[in-house]
Amino acid sequence: MRILIAGGAGCLGSSLVETYVAQGHDLMVIDNFATGKREVVPELPTLQVVEGSIADRELVESCFARFRPSHVIHSAAAYKEPENWWEDAETNVRGSINIARCCDAHGVRRLIYFQTALCYGRPRQVPIPVDHPTAPFTSYGISKTAGEQYVRMARTPSVSLRLANVTGPRLAIGPIPTFYTRLRDGRACFCSDTVRDFLDMEDFLALMERCLVDGAPTGVFNVSTGEGHTIREVFAIVADHLGLDTPEPPLVPCGPDDVPAVVLDPSETERAFHWKARKGFDETIRRMLAWYDAHGVTDIYTHLAPGK
Ligand SMILES: NC(=O)c1ccc[n+]([C@@H]2O[C@H](COP(=O)([O-])OP(=O)(O)OC[C@H]3O[C@@H](n4cnc5c(N)ncnc54)[C@H](O)[C@@H]3O)[C@@H](O)[C@H]2O)c1
Repeated sequence: MRILIAGGAGCLGSSLVETYVAQGHDLMVIDNFATGKREVVPELPTLQVVEGSIADRELVESCFARFRPSHVIHSAAAYKEPENWWEDAETNVRGSINIARCCDAHGVRRLIYFQTALCYGRPRQVPIPVDHPTAPFTSYGISKTAGEQYVRMARTPSVSLRLANVTGPRLAIGPIPTFYTRLRDGRACFCSDTVRDFLDMEDFLALMERCLVDGAPTGVFNVSTGEGHTIREVFAIVADHLGLDTPEPPLVPCGPDDVPAVVLDPSETERAFHWKARKGFDETIRRMLAWYDAHGVTDIYTHLAPGK
């Protein structure tokens, strides 16, 4: 395959790059390094790295013309400044349009998009079925949802994966790296009174294998274990991993900009792709912590606006 990965220097993108390089595919990465890191993309003859924004139509068109991808994975997203609606729209909407249009123009075989669970807004039911209405209420969620809709309008067979919190190499966002860093530094923690679902990178990569196959299902799919866990449960595993007998941290009520429980119902995905997450919650968190022990934690960004 000739796989173009937008956002290939990010957390998910770089694990995909590692996987497909090892499988011997030709790759091109387009990344502006807004949250990704150049160092995580290896220098190899089979891997071209283009520095620039997917919002730049000419750049995207020239990359497609030069590389002629057979498959495209759109893993780029802007989220790091919640008040910068312009950048979210440029990358997540305009950038997605550029990619979708180029996929059609160049006869790309499969286009894969990654969607945030924030697309469901404040869900009416949990676990959230994939046909639950979308009602995003953050700049990130709104722009990613528009991007997903443009991808779905493309003629290219596409799959949009609505993802649980994927844990794996280089994850630098969310409660796991935050608790790990703060507890190790002896700093105080608090837990938001919320429930989330966590998915191990290995399970995500196993599904991606199936998504790239010609004739595989197309459309929108929830990707999750289907199991929700409190942030306090995450804290308890991190404290245990570090061998700390820390008292339970204060519980902070879910803020007006947050969602109390986000757990995606993966049943339709399991049926369509004959796939099921294999790693349980405890193992998933502990594998992430073992990675931090070996490699450390990098910058922590959040895509949720600070409480108004
Ligand atoms: N990791 C998760 O658990 C999760 C959950 C839901 C959705 N997603 C989606 O998956 C994708 C990857 O997320 P991630 O966790 O790897 O985030 P990430 O921030 O690590 O990766 C995003 C990458 O996109 C790049 N980028 C940003 N703006 C760009 C632009 N204009 N042009 C080119 N590159 C640009 C960044 O530099 C970064 O390398 C995103 O689309 C995100 O919305 C991820």
